[in-house]
Amino acid sequence: MIIIKSPREIDLIAEASRVVALALEKITPYVVPGVSTARLNELIDGFVREEGAYPGELGYYDYPASVCASVNEVILHGIPSEKKVLKDGDIITLDLVAKKNGYCGDAARTYLVGICGDRQKKLVAVAQECFYNAVSLVKPGVHLGDVCNAIEETAKAHGYSVARDYTGHGIGKEMHEDPYIPCYGVPGTGPLLKEGMTICIEPMIFEKKNAYKVLKDGWTVVAKDGGLTAHYENTLVVTKDGYRILTKLEESGKDTI
Ligand code: MF3
Ligand code: CO
Repeated sequence: MIIIKSPREIDLIAEASRVVALALEKITPYVVPGVSTARLNELIDGFVREEGAYPGELGYYDYPASVCASVNEVILHGIPSEKKVLKDGDIITLDLVAKKNGYCGDAARTYLVGICGDRQKKLVAVAQECFYNAVSLVKPGVHLGDVCNAIEETAKAHGYSVARDYTGHGIGKEMHEDPYIPCYGVPGTGPLLKEGMTICIEPMIFEKKNAYKVLKDGWTVVAKDGGLTAHYENTLVVTKDGYRILTKLEESGKDTI
């Protein structure tokens, strides 16, 4: 069931989302060669808690960390580790949920580590482009299938593929609410967007084929062919005539990357 949020609830989701955006911005200078993903996790955990929020991923279905830290061929749910040390040319996705006053915000960014080549830069930029092409269609009365289709079409235009079994989602009291928001869709199908819906649109793209496997830890999702992956996600609210992205810092008006 899709829940339409009241203005008060939207304010609460916006506050949790602000915490996510702030943490993803504050972590940027630390995402450098030589840092471990465990250290990034520890820092982000602190950034979230000092805003009076709680890292929503910690303990979610027993997930053991405060952020998902997914490097290169890991597309989703990489578990932070002392052993995973970043090096020049890596790309790392940090996917973070903050919960505050009972409501959630959720965003993901893929960061370039040190000196990266065009291969890395282009994939990361296209994940963002997929998001913006999709979100630009968002307004009341639009079919969700139109929005989802824009993600896949954008990725395909660059020769990339999209995740099939992992999707964006509604958000509110729960991190994952209806509707599912896949990275592909058929225009003119699916639920109609309505004012007051709060949703996460999150292109997850593969450089090569979208076949994946889950590692023995039960979480880490990797591209089977070892190709690179990128992910870009924001929480947003559908407004009277469009949308408002909530996981952005208003002062700077910018993303974290
Ligand atoms: N933040 C992820 C999402 O975009 C969910 C992470 S699942 C967890 O939906 F178990 F790691 F928390
Ligand atoms: Co999400």
